[in-house]
Amino acid sequence: FGVHREVDIHLRAHLSQKATNSVASFDDSLYKSSDGRNNPAGEGLYGRPEPMTHTSIAKEKILQRRSLQLRNQQQDWQESPEGKKMLDFRRSLPAFKEKDAFLKAISENQVVVVSGETGCGKTTQLPQYILESETEAARGAVCNIICTQPRRISAMSVSERVAAERGEKLGESVGYKVRLEGMKGRDTRLLFCTTGVLLRRLLVDRSLNGVTHVIVDEIHERGMNEDFLLIVLKDLLPRRPDLRLILMSATLNAELFSSYFDGAPTMHIPGFTYPVRSHFLEDILQMTGYQLTPYNQIDDYGQQKTWKMQKQADAFKKRKSQIASTVEDALEVADFNGYSPRTRESLSCWSPDSIGFNLIERVICHIVKNERPGAILVFMTGWDDINSLKNQLQAHPLLGDQSRVLLLACHGSMSSSEQRLIFENPEGGVRKIVLATNMAETSITINDVVFVVDCGKAKETSYDALNNTPCLLPSWISKAAARQRRGRAGRVQSGECYHLYPRCVYDAFADYQLPELLRTPLQSLCLQIKSLQLGSISEFLSRALQSPEPLSVKNAVEYLKTIGALDEDENLTVLGRKLSMLPVEPKLGKMLILGAIFKCLDPIMTVVAGLSLKDPFMMPADKKDLAESSKAHFAGRAYSDHLTLVRAYEGWKEAEAQQAGYEYCWRNFLSSQTLRAIDSLRKQFFYLLKDTGLVDHNSAAYNTWSHEEHLLRAVICAGLFPGVSSVENKPKSITLKTMEDGQILLSGNSVNGNVPRIPYPWLVFNEKVKVNSVFLRDSTGISDSVLLLFGGNISRGGLDGHLKMLEGYLEFFMKPELAKTYLNLKSELEELIQKK
Ligand code: CDP
Ligand code: MG
Repeated sequence: FGVHREVDIHLRAHLSQKATNSVASFDDSLYKSSDGRNNPAGEGLYGRPEPMTHTSIAKEKILQRRSLQLRNQQQDWQESPEGKKMLDFRRSLPAFKEKDAFLKAISENQVVVVSGETGCGKTTQLPQYILESETEAARGAVCNIICTQPRRISAMSVSERVAAERGEKLGESVGYKVRLEGMKGRDTRLLFCTTGVLLRRLLVDRSLNGVTHVIVDEIHERGMNEDFLLIVLKDLLPRRPDLRLILMSATLNAELFSSYFDGAPTMHIPGFTYPVRSHFLEDILQMTGYQLTPYNQIDDYGQQKTWKMQKQADAFKKRKSQIASTVEDALEVADFNGYSPRTRESLSCWSPDSIGFNLIERVICHIVKNERPGAILVFMTGWDDINSLKNQLQAHPLLGDQSRVLLLACHGSMSSSEQRLIFENPEGGVRKIVLATNMAETSITINDVVFVVDCGKAKETSYDALNNTPCLLPSWISKAAARQRRGRAGRVQSGECYHLYPRCVYDAFADYQLPELLRTPLQSLCLQIKSLQLGSISEFLSRALQSPEPLSVKNAVEYLKTIGALDEDENLTVLGRKLSMLPVEPKLGKMLILGAIFKCLDPIMTVVAGLSLKDPFMMPADKKDLAESSKAHFAGRAYSDHLTLVRAYEGWKEAEAQQAGYEYCWRNFLSSQTLRAIDSLRKQFFYLLKDTGLVDHNSAAYNTWSHEEHLLRAVICAGLFPGVSSVENKPKSITLKTMEDGQILLSGNSVNGNVPRIPYPWLVFNEKVKVNSVFLRDSTGISDSVLLLFGGNISRGGLDGHLKMLEGYLEFFMKPELAKTYLNLKSELEELIQKK
């Protein structure tokens, strides 16, 4: 429903924009009024076109009347039995005691920083207090509150909760907006959106006209978008003295933010949580049948404690070298690979798989069998782990018994019914177990959790500026995060937290996590800085709370120049401007644009949707061979993961048309859920492209060459460049190399990962991941001429510049045949240019 509604609004906005020939991005078009101007104050957040005949006074009156109606509705609801119950609940939250102080603080100050324990009512209550006080004062007409959330799921679940607290449907006074989806209406005064949505709105409406309050939530997480938004808002505040900015944090490091905003006042909401007992690995192994004897052993580096473990007596007696064997045995059970951390550096080298599923299973069993009632929340590193663990637990005789255990996985794209199950209390003494990632640390609150199992790691992107390689590794969390995780167990009564790592590992954790801005590639961000006309990229970023390394900034700018989004003077090119309007990574945006230009849009949209979502090919552990051969069947001789996806998707579409989609997926080991998501994202892409004026209504006109796989390879190459590796087929192996990493490997999931040879001289790829070695996740084979013509940006430094860059490639890869092709091509091109 949300999507259709949005498309509807979107179409309307699109039509109105066409008239004025102004361009705006997908999200922003929703905020424009009928005459293409930005919203004047008081028009409501979404600029539902008002008839031009209304004078502003009449408008004001209508809105005020509407505010009055809203207020009366609220009063009626609060007097109903359900409403009363809800109100009582709301009043029991710690935030309620601070309501007046909070409202006073924001009326007297432009910026206020609020901190408070997770669950004290910051997200659900504070924005409501503002809304209520404004409607009370019948100023509701001019009240537009935007509250940003770092994640889609929290924006959606929180808005649903707040609407329920107000006895309303979502989309009345409370709404949400996340990338490509939203639910809101004419009366929406409080909008929960992702930080990205607000940033894109700033693209066309730099003063946030009509917005009265901006609330930036979860700032303690220090996400990149949030840090970026803070710089922009800091600049905006003097120009919008009436705008109020509220920063909310779950931890107590409010001072940092306060001093960034020139000593803005801070407020703390004292929360109450029950005590939670911490158990570290040493206790846990003992509890679950293993004994440990800590002892002070001076290790190689002569510094830290390490300890020996003893399996119980019988195992102990077996071998001579007792310590070593028992340690190994215990490690096997725990699946831990390293055990005596010497330094923080060696900690981060531990294998990513070092969280033992078996250990987790044991701990959960222990709780279910021996402990009092209460839900269990398990923190895992990522969706893959959650899925595998869920499968493992489901096969367990006790934990798989649905009459005793309700096993739930919490992830970003849950349906709302799944979401509700997570928050509800199961009946009949059933034990709820929720498997979640670190998003359950602060953004969502599950009340009845009494037991927390903390694996100690979180998947975080880090960025190796020297090698210009993003890494996605589970790494140790910070002390602050571990505290947060522990705190989740003490919401309703005292709780227990099982940390699946030794105490000495905890002691070595950093106090806080490094801000994202300092550990991710900055390409999209730099593009946004440019399109917002915020001046020099490096100067702008130097004003951040903590500035990224100059080398990271340089790499990002260089990348944008390579793909042709910025010119040599760092100005946005036409391509760059279009790219900044597409809420996808620059490379994916470029692929979409070229897909339209080269009239092979449908398959390219499939590729891009696939790259933005996850792989629809499933590899169930017990049927891996079958699944692989099915995938290989789609791959045929394409030597391309991207084209393999296109074929699988197109087959599915055909099957769907004959109502056989489900069976098709089942037979071919495909996830119909992911394929459906790809399908809907493709539709959104088409609207996006239409919105940026790149295509018109007739989609058939953009598919003249869609069956030409050579052309598809070329467009994929244009998007993924400079993600290129050379291919050298050796008798027994294939050697791949990239400029930055030297030799690299193909992931076993890639269709090119299991072939004896690859008949293409190059592979282009979207993602490489550094685990122990560097792996290519996905790849497509391309020919020399495709690389020469589509690799990079012909316009950069003119043709000469382009050829020079490619010369660099030739030198590096030393490919004589390519040099020949290149020289021929060069002279042909030069001739052409002479003629023209
Ligand atoms: O933002 P903060 O962590 O301070 O708390 P919140 O998200 O505003 O939640 C306040 C309280 O509302 C929580 O303690 C939960 O009891 C309740 N809540 C809920 O029952 N269901 C939700 N979907 C969200 C919150
Ligand atoms: Mg919150």
